[in-house]
Amino acid sequence: MTLKLHDYGVSIGRKAIVRNVRIEARAGEVLAVMGPNGAGKSTFMKGLCALRPASGRATIDKTDLLSVKPALRSRLVGYVAQDVSHLTVQLSVFELLLLAQNGGRHSWRATHDSFRLAEETLEMLGLSHFANSHPAWLSGGERQMISLALALVRKPRLLLLDEPTSALDLANQLQMLDAVLAYTRQHQIVTLAILHDMNLATRYADSTLVLAGGAMHSFGATRDILTPAMIAAVYGVDCRTVDVENGQFTAIYPLSVIASGPTRARDSLPS
Ligand SMILES: Nc1ncnc2c1ncn2[C@@H]1O[C@H](COP(=O)(O)OP(=O)(O)OP(=O)(O)O)[C@@H](O)[C@H]1O
Ligand SMILES: [Mg+2]
Repeated sequence: MTLKLHDYGVSIGRKAIVRNVRIEARAGEVLAVMGPNGAGKSTFMKGLCALRPASGRATIDKTDLLSVKPALRSRLVGYVAQDVSHLTVQLSVFELLLLAQNGGRHSWRATHDSFRLAEETLEMLGLSHFANSHPAWLSGGERQMISLALALVRKPRLLLLDEPTSALDLANQLQMLDAVLAYTRQHQIVTLAILHDMNLATRYADSTLVLAGGAMHSFGATRDILTPAMIAAVYGVDCRTVDVENGQFTAIYPLSVIASGPTRARDSLPS
């Protein structure tokens, strides 16, 4: 399976928020989407799951995501939003995991298989102890983890995660992204994850797309993209890289802000 975006863009009203994105990702790959606040990352993602109108081409193999029927698109694409505070319905986590599998059908009965998949999904994410909790009773971070379970239980081919670790403690950040990476490899899906933490991106993402001012600044293998030069140009931050574990990982250490304000991202766009 291959995901390809070509001349992909997303508008809000008549304003083009994201323009001219051209990327490719293969089955089993995790792709980080990075860029400053307001760069268009969430809007980019919402265009792929039909929450915003998108233009250009976005294909999964031969399927054109932007023109398939909504029911098929929602089967193919799993999405975890940046803000999960709305997840407060009066159902238990387990009931929600069963409902999430009904694929929008009006009439549906939970089967032995759907119970098993709900159980396995919670177990894989280390969340079994939340099965009988109501999301409204959970903390922000716990809700964020349950939102991932709700996306995975529907077996998406393309998984979209908008800042999935923003509310998580250090151990849960690693556990969640370990699980996402393992799931992506094992089920040969494509995962796009918006991340602000560069060290998580260098550790988990095979490739990285950088958006700046709504346009594609750069795209490629993460180690080639997340360089001090890119970070200075796009974020206006001076940083150093440090090899960890004999070069197995590269850590990025920010030293100081060298340029700030909304112009830095626009200035850094390729001419
Ligand atoms: N509903 C809306 N109406 C008008 N403009 C919007 C709307 N939503 C977002 N925008 C604008 O689109 C631009 C990109 O927003 P987006 O939420 O995609 O940024 P982002 O890269 O996800 O930022 P962050 O890192 O802060 O989450 C911003 O300038 C924002 O003001
Ligand atoms: Mg966002």
